[in-house]
Amino acid sequence: MSAVDVVIMAAGKGTRMKSKLPKVLHRLAGRALLGHVVDTAAGLKPRQVVVITGHGAAEVEPALTQMVGDAAAFKLDFARQEPQLGTGHAVQQALPALADDGTVVVLSGDVPLTQLDTLQALIKSSGGDKLALLTLALPDPTGYGRIVRGADDAVQAIVEHKDATEAQRAIGEIYSGIMAVPAKLLRNWLGRVDNKNAQGEYYLTDIVKLAVADGVRVVGHKITDEVQVAGVNSPVQLAELERAYQRRQAHRLMEQGVRLADPARFDLRGTLQCGQDVAIDVNCVFEGTVSLGEGVKIGANCVIANASIAAGAVIHPFTHIDGEKAGVTVGAGALIGPFARLRPGARLGAEVHIGNFVEVKNSTLADGAKANHLAYLGDATVGERVNYGAGSITANYDGANKHRTVIEADVHIGSNCVLVAPITIGAGGTVGGGSTLTKSTAPGALSIGRARQASIPNWSRPKKAAK
Ligand code: UD1
Ligand code: CA
Repeated sequence: MSAVDVVIMAAGKGTRMKSKLPKVLHRLAGRALLGHVVDTAAGLKPRQVVVITGHGAAEVEPALTQMVGDAAAFKLDFARQEPQLGTGHAVQQALPALADDGTVVVLSGDVPLTQLDTLQALIKSSGGDKLALLTLALPDPTGYGRIVRGADDAVQAIVEHKDATEAQRAIGEIYSGIMAVPAKLLRNWLGRVDNKNAQGEYYLTDIVKLAVADGVRVVGHKITDEVQVAGVNSPVQLAELERAYQRRQAHRLMEQGVRLADPARFDLRGTLQCGQDVAIDVNCVFEGTVSLGEGVKIGANCVIANASIAAGAVIHPFTHIDGEKAGVTVGAGALIGPFARLRPGARLGAEVHIGNFVEVKNSTLADGAKANHLAYLGDATVGERVNYGAGSITANYDGANKHRTVIEADVHIGSNCVLVAPITIGAGGTVGGGSTLTKSTAPGALSIGRARQASIPNWSRPKKAAK
């Protein structure tokens, strides 16, 4: 097999998206359309990927460079196409970057769900000496280029809808926009395409006629899965493809044994690893990298990003977890929510309980610690079995710097306390409700930092003056 080079066309305007954002940067399952295409292309282990940019190039190029990162095993190149004179003209812009000894795979930046095995089969059909086209039969082929086949089933031409005769328009088999072709032949043919057609464009699809004229065989590699060649031209099509993609992911998880209450109300924008007997209720969104241990239960309406949740933990409804870069870890058997918020760097041990309207950020809670109601733990180290009262907060920010709060094992913090960091509450200590503490406390001490209660006996309330 010859080496593979990939060309991705992404210079078009995407007028029907009616958006300021270039079309190929719109997201499907949390990743830019163009990112999906490049990810699939990377699976072909290409030498290089050349992206044809035009409309929005100044935004598209840096965005893609960042998405691909430095670790990519291929060379990422951009070729600007200005003005956009058609798909043939687009691929012409890549020719200077392409070596003659490879097979070129042409993809579109707005066709995100083509599968790797489909492209591999297409490359095989090309076989180093043939032009291979990915095709599909559609019930309504309106608008697409039609595949005209000869008596021997070999492809004779692609005729664009606008150039087609009535008889040709009756053909249901269409060109997907994806091809595999030996680079040397591609270069020769692209030098010969003209723009004498209904749209006055240089058509990439015209190379089929040239191949036939040169006696090179053109293979139509036909698939039946529409989603793989579906392009995104409008918000409606984007939403349809998103759902198709999510349905597939949901089914894959259910086949692994994950119980989704409703696969139509499940969204995964990243990767999700699940142990046995995981159950996920409706309307949950998973982002980034998430892992759920054996028997984890996720209640309805949770958003969970970049987190690792250990076996047996229960995440009650309406919980928001986002580990961002630092991640969040939830220990085995922990109970979280409803309405809890876990932020980057939350590290919760086994059997930790985090209740409603509790926010945890950059804090470690050891096994069995509990914060059950309306509380904030930021930049804190919390020992085993600590009970952290309702309405209590760590005052971790002095307006310039963040400071740590250390709450040692078996401490009981009453309700509505303010722990002004840096501060350490010694092991086994107790903090009276309503206290504001600014100084560290000794192990075992009861600390109270509030105005002493005064009670005046038999107090008569002021009365309204008589009129
Ligand atoms: C193209 C095919 C058609 C096929 C259809 C599948 C041609 C002439 N026709 O038609 O046979 O059925 O795709 O969707 O190729 N682009 C550029 N520069 C340009 C023009 C287009 O980069 O000058 C890019 C677009 O951004 C897009 C892709 O090429 O990603 C396809 O262009 P589009 O205008 O959608 O082609 P179609 O007319 O749909
Ligand atoms: Ca199109």
